[in-house]
Amino acid sequence: MKGIILAGGAGSRLYPLTLVASKQLQPVYDKPMIYHPLTTLIEGGIREICLISTPHDLPRFQQLLGDGSRMGISIDYREQAKPEGIAQAILIAESFIGDDAVALILGDNIFYGNNGFGESFRDFTSGATIFGYHVQDPERYGVVEFDEEGSAISIEEKPQYPKSHYAVPGIYIYDNDVIEITKGSQPSARGELEITAINMEYLNRGRLRVEKLSRGFAWLDAGTSSSLHEASAYVQTIETRTGIKIGCPEEASYRSGFMSVDQLAEIVADMSICEYQAYLAGVVAEAMRS
Ligand code: DAU
Repeated sequence: MKGIILAGGAGSRLYPLTLVASKQLQPVYDKPMIYHPLTTLIEGGIREICLISTPHDLPRFQQLLGDGSRMGISIDYREQAKPEGIAQAILIAESFIGDDAVALILGDNIFYGNNGFGESFRDFTSGATIFGYHVQDPERYGVVEFDEEGSAISIEEKPQYPKSHYAVPGIYIYDNDVIEITKGSQPSARGELEITAINMEYLNRGRLRVEKLSRGFAWLDAGTSSSLHEASAYVQTIETRTGIKIGCPEEASYRSGFMSVDQLAEIVADMSICEYQAYLAGVVAEAMRS
């Protein structure tokens, strides 16, 4: 399975922070936001990744992550000229996806807990898998409605009167039909190719699976100043308590078997002395001991 991270958009809700650096490059406590979705994919066993952003911001991501080879993954970069919808990512990445299935994740979504999405990625065979997460304010999101048996019966984008408290987080798994489905979809009234329309098409075809994320799972989005602050506070609290970093792609890559401990040690040796370097040095030392 391949992975796409969509990290474009104007980030207007975070102005003036985003006047010089895009939203997904903003710090969430001790790391750039983009490290989180990148880590989620790597922890899930995905090592071929396409990162999509604006022509203006793409060079900054390249500067930060390079081609990924240092951490045992590959990162392709593609431009989204205008923010014409989340589903447009599928069209932009068509040649990258090739004949494969794909996991699409939004660059401002942060997930933590319950062993991530590895099982969902591994068990995926066909159709589409999306997730449902209980939130207090579903009207801000795509919302899934379930019948009495727990099967999804509708999905609405930012409904005024939500039919449930289950929001659809920004991580979606699709089989290769997603390319044909997206090509057949029309822009919405606001001029965007809506991801909810793609999910609805899978639902209408009887090929959509909605997995409810359990209570122990944390899903944070960091699209406004307050949610960015809350996400930082959350990451700081967990990291300080456990001594384990959240959203550390180098560690995830090592633990997923994408690079050896020697490669990780090289990365650590090249890094300037900082808390992040000390943490990774600890991971190397622990690996050497075992
Ligand atoms: O966070 C989950 C929600 O994400 C879902 O529940 C909704 O169904 C889905 O539509 C989306 O809602 P948002 O209101 O968060 O979408 P937004 O337009 O803010 O875009 C989400 C991220 O994707 C944001 O970081 C910018 C990026 N993006 C968005 C669009 C429309 C792009 O890179 N390009 C785009 O064309």
